[in-house]
Amino acid sequence: MLFKNIIDSVALLKRTQCAYIKSFKMAKSTFEYVKTFEQDDTLLPNTWIVVRLDGKCFHKFSEDHNFKKPNDIRALKLMNYAAFKVLHEFNDVLMAFGQSDEYSFILRKTCFLYKRRAAKLLTTLNSKFSSTYVFYWNKFFDQEPLKYPPTFDGRIVLYPSDENIIDYLKWRQADVHINNLYNTSFWTLVLQGGLTPTQAEKRLCGTVSADKNEILYKEFNINYNNEPNIFKRGTVLMRKSLLNESSKKPMSIIVDVHDDMLKDTFWKENSNLLLPKSKQSINHEGPITDIINEQINKGHNTIADIVNVNK
Ligand code: GTP
Ligand code: MG
Repeated sequence: MLFKNIIDSVALLKRTQCAYIKSFKMAKSTFEYVKTFEQDDTLLPNTWIVVRLDGKCFHKFSEDHNFKKPNDIRALKLMNYAAFKVLHEFNDVLMAFGQSDEYSFILRKTCFLYKRRAAKLLTTLNSKFSSTYVFYWNKFFDQEPLKYPPTFDGRIVLYPSDENIIDYLKWRQADVHINNLYNTSFWTLVLQGGLTPTQAEKRLCGTVSADKNEILYKEFNINYNNEPNIFKRGTVLMRKSLLNESSKKPMSIIVDVHDDMLKDTFWKENSNLLLPKSKQSINHEGPITDIINEQINKGHNTIADIVNVNK
């Protein structure tokens, strides 16, 4: 009796297996055609890839989280930190530039990450950036709880020549200058001058840069040139080397600087920046920031071990 039961069970198992394999084969042949609906989104080869992310409705998000006007250093530093983590994870990202609620990531012409599939690149970088922004919120906003998850949109733009990519970066940095001068003047008129937002807007209507500088200087004793560079120029993230005094070896790090990319001197000093990876070696001469310090400490070096080359 027991033997018959075993035989029956084995037979049943075989029948079930056959039915499963048959249905699987059918599913494969019958339904697999849907895969052909996926579109090829491979990016043109040998072009600079720009991935630009931008906060959605940050006008409201900044109000809801009491960002200081016109610039909140906590918000800018959080943006920089999230972008730093993107560079840290993705070596193909050569550099990045950030201002306000946006960040541009520049990927090498030779980049073959995800076979240059646009959706993969855009979604992965955006996802890494957005989740890092949320994950490290408290590191920068310790007194200000995150009320709801922020959203970032993203786009990819391709540029064929070095001149184009340099002009792209200059364009984004010129944007900071225009916006920040306006915002600084606007909020100074409102917060220190007692004007309503509508009055301040009217006051600034039709003014050029020189007029705004004069309003700030003559009426509020503010020299715009003395405003922090992070507000006036945004932040550039680049890969550079620092010399480790102990080991006498250069250490590759991601630096956050507020250099003026609109000046030719930036491109002369960083003439290797756009060259293929193997030929890159740019020394860092700027200050040791929190972002740099974190990388030094992770490498079990102390600041004393590191000297800025050429200093
Ligand atoms: P979409 O990007 O179209 O969704 O709109 P947005 O509301 O995000 O505006 P946009 O990206 O054009 O501009 C960013 C906005 O974020 C600014 O207009 C500010 O309102 C806000 N913002 C960004 N950084 C700061 C900051 O440091 N302080 C303050 N107070 N606001 C900021
Ligand atoms: Mg925005």
